[in-house]
Amino acid sequence: MKHIEIKGKEIAIINLDGKYYAINDRCGHMNAPLSKGEIKNVQGKDIVTCPFHFSTFDIVTGKKLSEPKMSPPMDMVALPNLCRMLLLMPHR
Ligand code: FES
Repeated sequence: MKHIEIKGKEIAIINLDGKYYAINDRCGHMNAPLSKGEIKNVQGKDIVTCPFHFSTFDIVTGKKLSEPKMSPPMDMVALPNLCRMLLLMPHR
């Protein structure tokens, strides 16, 4: 996916097997850039998933297909203990 701006409008350009689509690059929920999201084909429909809260959008129509998920997905990797310790250490 590629982010472009034309006359102040942010657009995500998506190449699906040589066919190009242009959708609004900003998620209507909290303005995340959809061009940083993930493209998947779900049940024959090409979708992009918002990188912030995982709303999904139809790439062909640009329409929202699902609402934001405010809890982390089950396959999200937990913060390793070492990183957590580093964050909790006092900084000098
Ligand atoms: S910013 Fe896209 S779902 Fe929240």
